[in-house]
Amino acid sequence: MIKIKNDLFLKALKGEKVDRPPVWIMRQAGRYLPDFMKLKNKYDFFTRCQTPELACEITLMPIQQIGLDAAIIFSDILVVPQAMGVKVEMKNNFGPFIEFPIKNKSDIQNLDIKNAEERLDYVFKAVEMTKKALNNEVPLIGFAGSPWTILCYMIEGSGSKNFASVKNFCFKNPELAHNLLEKITKVTISYLKKKILSGIDAVQLFDSWGGVLSHTDYQIFSYPYIKQISDSLNSISPVIIYPKGCWHSLSAYSKIGAAAIGIDWSCSARNARYLTGNNITLQGNFDPSRLFSSKKDIKKHTLSMLNEFGKQSYIANLGHGILPNTPVDNVKTFVKTIKDYK
Ligand code: CP3
Repeated sequence: MIKIKNDLFLKALKGEKVDRPPVWIMRQAGRYLPDFMKLKNKYDFFTRCQTPELACEITLMPIQQIGLDAAIIFSDILVVPQAMGVKVEMKNNFGPFIEFPIKNKSDIQNLDIKNAEERLDYVFKAVEMTKKALNNEVPLIGFAGSPWTILCYMIEGSGSKNFASVKNFCFKNPELAHNLLEKITKVTISYLKKKILSGIDAVQLFDSWGGVLSHTDYQIFSYPYIKQISDSLNSISPVIIYPKGCWHSLSAYSKIGAAAIGIDWSCSARNARYLTGNNITLQGNFDPSRLFSSKKDIKKHTLSMLNEFGKQSYIANLGHGILPNTPVDNVKTFVKTIKDYK
């Protein structure tokens, strides 16, 4: 095993003692960085994902400019449905858009899961290139969407306010929904295994839309598939589960052998520690909008977050992705407050 020079993040994942908590930021390579905007104006979104040189360059930006303790490979959760044969576009000022969402059984049968891994080859190349460029300075995180969150996009065709289409589909045709969830799970497991083989040091599963389900439906449509992925990977890589809005499942997730759980800002550190039996590393949970506050307030709120979670078994992060137009200096204040914490 090659030693990574800054191994704070990996130590925190193992629950080992650290002098200060590590920090990284969900969506850290993004629209608040001027250099990212320059590339964004030159290449469309999926070109940036599919060109290993560009993905590598973008991944390194926040490491060089903000000085975070872990890098996350630049990509998107929607490369998985894309590799299964669904046409996904990224529309400016709108977000993901699928012109022909999944509507019925034959749409699910027509998905190509055999060639998905091969179609994702550009991600593995980007990981290999980025690992080399990082020169073992900091670890590299890989990620995927949870099967439920990916199914939401495949059926809604975009983000949604009330998720009526996807709920309608799943509650009317549960067998079809489970068939689709199984297919996504299968592709996601082989995708993440190959990503780990390509050099990833830890994986994060984004269940960004888990919180739209009731706690009982969450047990039916999301939790079992995340558990299946975690079970398949946790002996070969640390797994971080980020179940946004799902405090009801924190206790269950703390017992399945994952390395850490991502907490959003709706749950207090105290409650999250209580629900997880103080038994697992937690990650989070600064409200991304709070980065628009004055520097004095950012410092104050960051310190209280650090005090509440405690220094050990903790990874400082936001509670969800960083927002566009966040002032870079404010991000630096957030990071510096964490790095100075003793
Ligand atoms: O964290 C990182 O820096 C790595 C890059 C990353 C992106 N997407 C790049 C991106 C990661 C980890 C993601 C994950 C992702 N993508 C999630 C889960 C995390 C979350 O925020 O809940 C989701 C739901 C998506 C789907 C997605 N991709 C949406 C909803 C959008 C549009 C909204 C937005 O934030 O812009 C995207 C586009 C996207 N993915 C951008 C970036 C930097 C911005 C668009 C662009 O650069 O052209």
